[in-house]
Amino acid sequence: MISPKIRGGICMNAHPAGCAREVQLQKDFIEKIDFSADPTPDTAPPTAQAEKTGRRNTQGPKTVLVIGGSTGYGLASRIVGAFGYGAETISVSFEREPGEKRPATAGWYNTRAFDKLAEKEGLASFSYNADAFSHETRRKIGSLLKERGRKVDLLVYSLASGVRPDPDTGEVYRSTLKPLEKTYTTRSVDFMTGAISQVSLEPATQAEIDSTVKVMGGEDWQLWVDYLQQNELLEHGFQSVAYSYIGPEITHPIYRSGTIGKAKEHLENTAHHLNSQLESVEGAAYVSINKAVVTRASAVIPAVPLYISLLFSVMKEQRLHEGCIEQMVRLYRRRLYSGSEVPTDTAGRIRLDDFEMKPEIQQEVEQRWEKVTEENLDNLGDMEGFRSDFLRIHGFRVPGVNYEAEVSFLDVPPPAND
Ligand SMILES: NC(=O)c1ccc[n+]([C@@H]2O[C@H](COP(=O)([O-])OP(=O)(O)OC[C@H]3O[C@@H](n4cnc5c(N)ncnc54)[C@H](O)[C@@H]3O)[C@@H](O)[C@H]2O)c1
Repeated sequence: MISPKIRGGICMNAHPAGCAREVQLQKDFIEKIDFSADPTPDTAPPTAQAEKTGRRNTQGPKTVLVIGGSTGYGLASRIVGAFGYGAETISVSFEREPGEKRPATAGWYNTRAFDKLAEKEGLASFSYNADAFSHETRRKIGSLLKERGRKVDLLVYSLASGVRPDPDTGEVYRSTLKPLEKTYTTRSVDFMTGAISQVSLEPATQAEIDSTVKVMGGEDWQLWVDYLQQNELLEHGFQSVAYSYIGPEITHPIYRSGTIGKAKEHLENTAHHLNSQLESVEGAAYVSINKAVVTRASAVIPAVPLYISLLFSVMKEQRLHEGCIEQMVRLYRRRLYSGSEVPTDTAGRIRLDDFEMKPEIQQEVEQRWEKVTEENLDNLGDMEGFRSDFLRIHGFRVPGVNYEAEVSFLDVPPPAND
């Protein structure tokens, strides 16, 4: 029996059966969505109940490569590619493997569960637990594609990492979450206890900014596209998408106008550069600005859990709330494979944060941010929703799992029969 061990916003363990069930639930959701092209306006989150039939779209991608495909947005992108479009999927992620005494990280179990579900459906899936920043990993994926005679239609770049060894020099760069120029003082919540405290973050040095750009900017995305293009592994009409976030003014000093924002700016510049580079295959590269959701990456950013809890409460009240899987359904169905031109903002970015950034949502969140205290947090915010999502991404408190049952660290249970 395993129960969650949480320290400083990080969950140290994961539940194999819970992770497998969570992946299964995302697949079940996908299978109730009709993926045929739909030109009607995109005004509400996809809901399984609202859809008539679960129909795969065979006009979508045939081969999807996801960098960072084991958790969060990357995993959801892989699930939609496979079960929504019948694509062969390849994922690269970097997860701790299980030991005799210690469970693996959630992403390792998610990946095992995904592979088993794909196999049951007769869909080819290949999962690499390897450092995506290394040339060696690129070569392995290249050999796999050549062996299988496949080219990539869609490359999803969904990495969130704190560290990157330069693949040529071996020098290790670390990313930091800091403001630029001046100290940023804000409120942050311990999402397990609901305790709100003041936190102050000193501005980053130039070296810290440069290092964060090196880890989370577009350099590695560019290297992946270069490698695939040089080896003629890009399908005609190839598309690539890398994920980013903008968010509200409240979080700008630590996010959009901070070190990570500089890295995301670099990612956007990389997309422009890639667009010219991909002309020969009539390809396109986009940065997609996604909504704030609970993942391992977002739980550790100061101010963000408090903002997310207020946001979730408001978005749920207005029936506009989405998790990773709903966002990725919209990305494929309403943006990349809608049958018409990919809609973007004036900077060429795909906007999946359109519901989050609606003025009526943001105004309400801002008002609640001014008023929120430990006493009224449960009324104004959705801390329980945050906590529950956080536990679920590690396989805890997932509906339909018997947590009393003994479980092995070494693998996930086989998929349930339909
Ligand atoms: N979480 C949010 O609210 C949010 C919102 C908008 C955009 N985004 C963006 O989405 C992207 C994915 O973030 P997430 O929140 O899904 O994070 P996540 O922590 O759930 O996923 C990160 C993935 O990166 C993989 N990874 C990390 N280092 C690696 C390495 N060296 N080699 C191979 N794989 C590695 C992990 O295994 C995992 O699959 C990020 O670019 C993030 O900025 C997140």
